Amino acid sequence: MSDAKTVKLVDESNATQSELPLISGTLGPACVDIGTLYKDTGHFTYDPGYGSTASTKSAITYIDGDKGVLLYRGYPIEQLAEKSNFLETSYLLLNGELPNKTQFEAFEHDITHHTMIPESLTSFLNGFHRNAHPMAMLAGSIASLSAFYHDELNVDDPADRKLAAIRLIAKMPTIAAAIHRYSVDRQQRYPRNNLEYVTRFLHMMFEVPSEPLELNPVAAKALDLLFILHADHEQNASTSTVRLVGSTGANPYASIAAGITALWGPAHGGANEAVLKQLEEIGSPDNVETAVKRAKDKNDSFRLMGFGHRVYKNFDPRAKIIREMCHKVLNELGVKDPLLDVALKLEEAALKDEYFVERKLYPNVDFYSGLIYKALGIPTEMFTVMFAIARTSGWIAHWIEQHETPGSRIGRPRQIYTGADVRDYTAADKR
Ligand code: CMC
Repeated sequence: MSDAKTVKLVDESNATQSELPLISGTLGPACVDIGTLYKDTGHFTYDPGYGSTASTKSAITYIDGDKGVLLYRGYPIEQLAEKSNFLETSYLLLNGELPNKTQFEAFEHDITHHTMIPESLTSFLNGFHRNAHPMAMLAGSIASLSAFYHDELNVDDPADRKLAAIRLIAKMPTIAAAIHRYSVDRQQRYPRNNLEYVTRFLHMMFEVPSEPLELNPVAAKALDLLFILHADHEQNASTSTVRLVGSTGANPYASIAAGITALWGPAHGGANEAVLKQLEEIGSPDNVETAVKRAKDKNDSFRLMGFGHRVYKNFDPRAKIIREMCHKVLNELGVKDPLLDVALKLEEAALKDEYFVERKLYPNVDFYSGLIYKALGIPTEMFTVMFAIARTSGWIAHWIEQHETPGSRIGRPRQIYTGADVRDYTAADKR
């Protein structure tokens, strides 16, 4: 890292000048280090939505939004999508390097042998209404793991941190499947250790006692791919939430539970559920034009879900890969989904519409993922849970990186106060 250059800040309000150091990473734009700005000038900076603010240094994931580049630990997402698998990618995110054969086997063994969940957690799930949203159940369950593993929550102990990472990645699919089965009133299935990660999850989701589950390998392949593509995405809203909560010294389960709640919003991971519901509402390719018109209308809050991204101002590289997989899955599973025709027409209409072109609004990762989940038989309300299973690797990798970074401080932004000036309390009869 070179910290050699500076930028000059001329403050006309009190006729002073300051030199602010520039910090450069391995890739990406240099950042103005404003850490001492308040002390030096008495000013804060203002950047709602963090459009120009780097909140941390991180060596995990890199995005070039203009070029449509996404790297995990330096490896292009396209190569990982083609050659890796979700567990190997999780190892990479956590440890910084791809595992050799022995390292991978040890990691897979650890994950496989932590997939069981306490029976009392299953009883805890029984307390929810059957129609509770799966994301509400997931956030509650993951936060509750802090209570189940109370004795191994020393955030300063690398062994406890590693164990929490293994437990989270291992148990997330078991909990997700338990949530699904509870909501459809089916008995829970235990994880089967002879299966690999994604297949085991699909068995827990869909196996019934009366007959063996016939699983098309393309289903597991597609889900594994979706998990790789969703595994991390630098300082997005949920990861930033995990880091902010983590900065207080909160335990990993509490921190990840906070990330889950942030992911739930429709502007973030909740978009995959919203996309499918929107495609269903649009209903037919004939109604696409009206939907596009509504999305452009400033007086209408309607947005095309699955379009646009804060960072990508070029095609989302994940969307390109998912689009291809979506066609493959539907073909190989023999699924004829009329919503795919609506999605294709919507994509075509938006990509040539001036409003979307000018604002660089392209289909994002969530535009096609829902169609794949639907083809696999995953209910719409479980879509964001799928995203959460995958993102757990990224969240916990960031949480660990944060705890391994010397000198980390609690995250504590400031504000521009716009309320009343100081005033005296008035007695009730004088108001
Ligand atoms: N449909 C119609 N107009 C849009 C859309 C959209 N999906 N997205 C952005 N715009 C317009 C917006 O109205 C604004 O127009 P103007 O400049 O005239 O005011 C301009 O584009 C810039 O939008 P913004 O809201 O300032 O952009 P942002 O970077 O704050 O928001 C976003 C990014 C992803 C929240 C937004 O594009 C959006 O709401 N998209 C739909 C939800 C979605 O698909 N989210 C998933 C994101 S990818 C997965 C993930 O992160 O979890």
